[in-house]
Amino acid sequence: MSERAQFTTRMGAIAATVGSAVGLGNIWRFPYEAGQNGGGAFLLIYLLCVVVMGIPVMVAEFVIGRSTHRNVCGALRQLSPHSKARWFGYVGITASLMILSFYSVVCGWIVEYLVLAVSGRLTGLEPNGYATMFTSFASHPWRPVLWTALFLLLNHLVLRRGLKRGIERASNVMMPLLFVILVIFAIHSLLLPGAERAVNFLMAPRLEDVTPDVALKAMGQAFFSLSLGLSCLLTYASYFKNSDSLTRNATVIALLDTLVAVMAGLMIFPAVFSYGMEPQAGPKLIFEVLPIIFNQMHMGIVWAVLLFMLLFLASITSSISMSEISIAFLTEEHNISREAATTVNTGIAVVFGSLCALSFGPLSGFTICGKTLFDLFDFVSSNVLLPLGGIFFSLFVGWHLDRRMVNAQLSHGPFVAIVIFCMRYVAPVAIASVFIYGLL
Ligand code: PHE
Repeated sequence: MSERAQFTTRMGAIAATVGSAVGLGNIWRFPYEAGQNGGGAFLLIYLLCVVVMGIPVMVAEFVIGRSTHRNVCGALRQLSPHSKARWFGYVGITASLMILSFYSVVCGWIVEYLVLAVSGRLTGLEPNGYATMFTSFASHPWRPVLWTALFLLLNHLVLRRGLKRGIERASNVMMPLLFVILVIFAIHSLLLPGAERAVNFLMAPRLEDVTPDVALKAMGQAFFSLSLGLSCLLTYASYFKNSDSLTRNATVIALLDTLVAVMAGLMIFPAVFSYGMEPQAGPKLIFEVLPIIFNQMHMGIVWAVLLFMLLFLASITSSISMSEISIAFLTEEHNISREAATTVNTGIAVVFGSLCALSFGPLSGFTICGKTLFDLFDFVSSNVLLPLGGIFFSLFVGWHLDRRMVNAQLSHGPFVAIVIFCMRYVAPVAIASVFIYGLL
């Protein structure tokens, strides 16, 4: 295994892993979930979930990946040769392909909106023209398919170049750029007249808003946003150096991911309130509500370009990480070249991504259990497979693996005792209770 690639620097490893975590989950989904679920109450439970479940599960994945330096199935087989643990590897690979399929549809919309914004076609409509524009685009028989495929092609081009020249280099450029855009945007928004109301909405928890449903949503959001439960972080950790501290990396990544989600809220809500809009618009907030605001804002085109640029950077670094799970699996377990493995991954994602893209148009009548393919993939992966994966990883590392090996992996780093305690007891019980409640 000596020639297996590793991230060159610790900065590169963090940039790539934060790149995986920071994505549509933070900038697109967090603001609308918070908007629909009581703002501050949602944020509070979300933070709790990050600390008691997010960081422990992340560390568990890191331990498995870094101790073996293998893809998910190879790692589980090496650590537990006589058990069926490696089957969870296949669950993770399936979940990653499902997420990649519906995720790239939204990424395709973003690329289309970026092109519209750059070419000046996103401004100048009547306020209700934007909803019509989005619906007619999303339900078009081939345009969303084309943009989804284009996005997956860009994803493919980075992945083909390999870990160092593709993933690490792209993350080292894109992540700092993303932070710069986000800071500029948040400062601009906080200077708008609606800023105070927005900060209040997001930061002040109204306890009457805390319901079991909000807890379920906040947990799902924490898992999705931190890329947990499907072995994405396990795969990246298999490229970490042995000298990296796993608990420190996990804390930094969770902090940065949460910071980006909060900043995204602080970037979007002041604008929403200042222009007299409502924060509950849901998934269409970014595509239907924000363009109306940009249309009225001074230099609106520039802000629109920046927003869709930001979303693009965030989403491609995440889709790259989802794809790496199957690519590592195919190259190591089936001995095929990286190019071929990348092509297989892209091919599957293009087929299922296109079907998901059509869920808003020609295939909207095709439902399974009352859900379109897009919604079904989202529901099964985020609400079922990710929590199951989270329970599995925390139990596997917390109880099944040799304690001395786990301690050796975590030997130099902060919070080890607390993280292990949460990994063994708090995380599995908490995830299982919220999960079971959600299915009832
Ligand atoms: N964490 C990413 C986001 O917030 C999504 C993701 C989920 C990425 C699972 C990889 C694996 O958008």
